[in-house]
Amino acid sequence: MTSLLPSSTSASPEPVLSGEFDLCEADLREFDGRDEEKPLLLSVGGFVFDISEGRKFYGKGMPYNIFAGRVATRALSIGSLDEEDLNDNIEGVNEKAVAGQIKFYGEKYKRVGLLKKEC
Ligand code: HEM
Repeated sequence: MTSLLPSSTSASPEPVLSGEFDLCEADLREFDGRDEEKPLLLSVGGFVFDISEGRKFYGKGMPYNIFAGRVATRALSIGSLDEEDLNDNIEGVNEKAVAGQIKFYGEKYKRVGLLKKEC
């Protein structure tokens, strides 16, 4: 699996990185919208973003809820809604598409942490 290191990308905008949510993949699942009191988070490119402001897309019962609480780098970069693409494997994925997704989430949402490789 090709790994993504946030420090190696220049696609990241302003470093709004609170470190409040440095989570591993399993921890992230809690923030999938089931509990409406909790923020909605997703990870792309090794960062964790707070996507709560996009609740109409990612909240419970919403069309893109599949991405909430998940590591969504591959799925977002290739435009897939398949469960099997919810991971950080960017093998065969256009790097510009990955960078574009990091940029998109960084500009629209707040970066709140990094994805930890180990739980
Ligand atoms: C027929 C296919 C699709 C249509 C018509 C469609 C349409 C839309 C529309 C209208 C929005 C909302 C834009 C807005 O109000 O700002 C949206 C957002 C979004 N779409 Fe799709 N979409 C399609 C397929 C997909 C696929 C395959 C993916 C898989 C990655 C995807 C991922 C997203 C995401 C993540 C957002 C939310 C972005 C944000 O946080 O603002 N869409 N889509």
